Amino acid sequence: TGMFTYDTGYLSTASCKSSITYIDGDKGELWYRGYPIEQLAENCDFLDTCYLLKNGELPNAAQKEEYLTSIKKHTLLHEQLAKFYQGFRRDAHPMAIMAGVVGALSAFYHDGMDISDQAHRDVSINRLIAKMPTIVAMAYKYSVGQPFMYPRNDLDYASNFMYMMFATPCEEYKPNPVLAKALDRIFILHADHEQNASTSTVRLAGSSGANPYAVIAAGIACLWGPAHGGANEACLQMLEEIGDVSRVPEYIKRAKDKNDSFKLMGFGHRVYKNFDPRAKLMRQTCYEVLTELGLENDRLFKLAMELERIALEDEYFIEKKLYPNVDFYSGIVQKALGIPTSMFTCIFALARTIGWITQWNEMITDSEYKIGRPRQLYVGPARRDVKPVEQR
Ligand code: CMC
Repeated sequence: TGMFTYDTGYLSTASCKSSITYIDGDKGELWYRGYPIEQLAENCDFLDTCYLLKNGELPNAAQKEEYLTSIKKHTLLHEQLAKFYQGFRRDAHPMAIMAGVVGALSAFYHDGMDISDQAHRDVSINRLIAKMPTIVAMAYKYSVGQPFMYPRNDLDYASNFMYMMFATPCEEYKPNPVLAKALDRIFILHADHEQNASTSTVRLAGSSGANPYAVIAAGIACLWGPAHGGANEACLQMLEEIGDVSRVPEYIKRAKDKNDSFKLMGFGHRVYKNFDPRAKLMRQTCYEVLTELGLENDRLFKLAMELERIALEDEYFIEKKLYPNVDFYSGIVQKALGIPTSMFTCIFALARTIGWITQWNEMITDSEYKIGRPRQLYVGPARRDVKPVEQR
């Protein structure tokens, strides 16, 4: 009709105004609320980052204390919800379980459901941040047939998550602080990334007035796809497939071949045409973790490092500005931490929840906010009449 702009993939449409996250893809910069990601990763923890994203400022000591208390209050999951897991097959993908359990939160926590009230919204937001590690860890425990481990509020956010994932009632478990710090950094680096597919899904779902739990379940569903949050899983599968350092050149050759659909997973990005700043930080964390665990000589890790080295020196990758993205290293770190490949996207969802819910909250409080309702260019049949069945 010519009345609407046709922009499939939203390559040139700004869907909202936002003051949360800024990306400069040419310079390779990422800021949360104006703070460069490098400074946040160096000086802050994940809950500082959550507070910053949600409130616009970093907490002072008293605010941090108060925030920790309000999060720790909500780390337990309703016992009835724990039963919900039993309805899934043990071999269900943990993202399927996550989407179901997070969606079901709205059936339990009715006191945060008045989305026109900031106090209600704040309770729901804190609940989501507090419960997400519990929900993810329980999905893992269920899949391996081990008992659920209840959250421990004496531990920091990442250590508590590791405890719920890896501890058993049979023996003492102490989260390794170096590994917990690495996990915390993964959370910080994945916390928000402006209007990516899952965040746009959250905003669109929320624009109808849907409740915050339903909205986050929608984000989880979108994140699951291999072109988005599923890439870290795909990257590890690729490394397993390559199998040995000796086969790296062969796969590099395949990645460059126009007639071969194979791409190097964990390389390239739609927005970053310079090093992904998150990847730089993740790479450093990756080395720290491998050293801590004495895994420098592990087959898969040596293979990944060799792949990175060859690709970064290769003309094809240099010319096309293909750098490793955050998923390349985060998969390796998670594997080293003992997190199974099928859980990688759940970790991403756990960390991105603060970004999703902050974007939702920003939208709800925006006076210009309207229900999201794109139009279309209709290309179907012209008007026609229904014929009696014997004439069709
Ligand atoms: N290996 C080999 N060649 C590549 C790769 C790669 N990983 N990525 C891009 N290219 C080539 C591509 O074939 C194209 O070549 P030509 O110009 O000759 O046609 C050129 O580089 C430009 O790439 P594009 O596909 O047009 O770029 P895009 O912005 O549409 O795609 C991407 C970006 C991330 C989907 C893509 O680089 C890719 O598929 N990478 C592998 C998957 C991956 O790691 N995804 C994670 C993304 S970051 C985290 C997240 O979003 O969740």
